[in-house]
Amino acid sequence: MSTNRKTAVITGGNSGIGYQTAKELAKQGWRVVITGRNAEKLENAANKIERLIQKGSGGEIVFRVGDYASFRSVRGLATDLNKEPRIDVLINNIGISLPNHQVSKDGNDMMVQVNHLSHFLLTHLLLDKLKASAPARIINVSSKLHRLAVGYGFDDFNMEHSFSTLPAYGRTKLYNLLFSFELAHRLKGSGVTVNALHPGIIATNIGDFKGILGFVWLLSKLFQKPSFMAARVPVFLATSPKLDGVTGKYFSRGLRPVTPSRLARNKQAAQRLWIMSAKLTGLDPETGILIG
Ligand SMILES: NC(=O)c1ccc[n+]([C@@H]2O[C@H](COP(=O)([O-])OP(=O)(O)OC[C@H]3O[C@@H](n4cnc5c(N)ncnc54)[C@H](OP(=O)(O)O)[C@@H]3O)[C@@H](O)[C@H]2O)c1
Repeated sequence: MSTNRKTAVITGGNSGIGYQTAKELAKQGWRVVITGRNAEKLENAANKIERLIQKGSGGEIVFRVGDYASFRSVRGLATDLNKEPRIDVLINNIGISLPNHQVSKDGNDMMVQVNHLSHFLLTHLLLDKLKASAPARIINVSSKLHRLAVGYGFDDFNMEHSFSTLPAYGRTKLYNLLFSFELAHRLKGSGVTVNALHPGIIATNIGDFKGILGFVWLLSKLFQKPSFMAARVPVFLATSPKLDGVTGKYFSRGLRPVTPSRLARNKQAAQRLWIMSAKLTGLDPETGILIG
């Protein structure tokens, strides 16, 4: 394994937006590490991408397994990823939408853990590697649907009393933005930038569940952008020289920073979320070191 090859880690790289992004970066000559919870799906995706990489381009694709519903598994994933000689870009892409409240192995609302807490944990566990690879970029895949969050939900973080599919999903995507802005602030001067994005509405597996919302998603897939469009915004954020040093922004399909919701711009809320997230993931909120 070469130590100077540009390396991107893309979580949730076996399907949808993560897969398309991995494919593009690998074709452009990057070493790409995709992660997910299912080894078979990851292997199939990696094999498909492998066949598209031109000989001599330098592109390479490998996969690592880690289940975001379990912090133990995320810590194991971080150990594997830290064996990479360098990580130039980390794309926190894993995301789910669920029709009902479910509880993770660690006792958290499943969407809160998979869509936010596990990203928070993995990012911290990779920070030393990212800093050592600087200039490096962290890219958080949020969504325009963060606007559906009706509040921060700090009094019912586990969504035991306030679960409703779209606002709950929106809340987790709001957390992605608050996390991005606070992390960007804390990493100023480190050579590691942090930006968030909305990829567009893309026909992927994310809304494939039973019930009325699943049916609406199925119908809406007819009008959505084909999934090859999915990589446009993440690849821009990962590779564009125009973004050297740009941090703490939220990008959308226009490839320019856009203003997120009022809730997403609240610094105190970002700090409160940070402290709660650190406590729940066993990290020291100041140093980011594992304490639990
Ligand atoms: N599609 C859209 O229109 C849209 C719009 C805005 C934002 N987004 C965001 O884009 C991101 C990617 O979503 P997508 O639309 O590409 O959906 P997707 O095709 O369903 O991809 C989600 C990825 O996350 C993985 N994943 C789910 N649960 C996991 C877990 N517990 N542990 C590890 N990996 C897990 C999935 O693996 P499996 O295949 O094993 O489930 C898959 O690789 C999400 O953050 C989503 O919120 C999507």
